[in-house]
Amino acid sequence: MARVRVVSVTSGKGGVGKSHLAANLSTLFAREGQRVLVIDADGGLSNVDVLLGVRPLLNLGDLLDGAPLEEVLCQVGPRLSLLAGGQGERRLAQLDDATRLALTSAWEQLLPRFDAVVVDVGSGVGDDVLFFASAGEVSLLVVTDEPTSIADAVVLIKALGAKASVREVDVVVNCVRTSRTAQAIFAKLQQSASFCGVRLRLVANIPDDQNIRRAAMAGRPLVELAPTSPASRAYERLAQTLLASPPRAPTGGLWFNEALLSSGS
Ligand SMILES: Nc1ncnc2c1ncn2[C@@H]1O[C@H](COP(=O)(O)OP(=O)(O)OP(=O)(O)O)[C@@H](O)[C@H]1O
Ligand SMILES: [Mg+2]
Repeated sequence: MARVRVVSVTSGKGGVGKSHLAANLSTLFAREGQRVLVIDADGGLSNVDVLLGVRPLLNLGDLLDGAPLEEVLCQVGPRLSLLAGGQGERRLAQLDDATRLALTSAWEQLLPRFDAVVVDVGSGVGDDVLFFASAGEVSLLVVTDEPTSIADAVVLIKALGAKASVREVDVVVNCVRTSRTAQAIFAKLQQSASFCGVRLRLVANIPDDQNIRRAAMAGRPLVELAPTSPASRAYERLAQTLLASPPRAPTGGLWFNEALLSSGS
């Protein structure tokens, strides 16, 4: 099977910009000619569909219940598909064996169809976050300049290291004014999450950009609505960095491989 680039987007605290990042990155990957799937795996309130301006009929919950893939995937653009989240899909937050199996077999059906998969994982340290964050080769963690966001990010990094064998996390600092602020936030994270065996890298800082609100209202990704706006430029740089990066092994492995093993593949 050709290599599929899987990028997961997580955060400790909610409301820090994950869904906008996932929507814009997937749009940019598709623009670069990749066949892209964006998965809204936020088990709470999923809304990537709103940001992309589509109204999917079925969602991840239906897929787990056995609906055919062709019916569940929503076409957003010529190369961009969405697997929408089920509103309040609580099954994801605590994965029992049956759900884990269904998720894993859905995952295996999905991967061969795409060049890149972007997963909006949601926040917290639930099973779903650990599952999806360790399935990707790139685990993006979004953090903002708020003490709670930083503190929760540290908890998540530790959980990813201890429970999901994730060894590398790529940090995106969102809503910052200067790169110096981003560096300072990253330094705090590094200090607090030292000794937990997870290597952190600062891969992007996305400026505070009021156009993002406008994009959400219009149901269009910022990179389409305002391609030259400051945050669009930053999304673009990150997309290029990710596309240019050499192949990596999945960030975690253990958690996800266990699921694959128990699915018998
Ligand atoms: N770079 C930015 N500049 C200004 N506002 C932003 C930026 N990124 C996100 N926002 C705003 O922050 C809010 C949260 O964004 P978003 O929904 O992407 O976060 P989230 O982490 O997915 O939230 P949740 O945890 O609820 O799913 C939105 O109102 C959005 O407009
Ligand atoms: Mg979200």
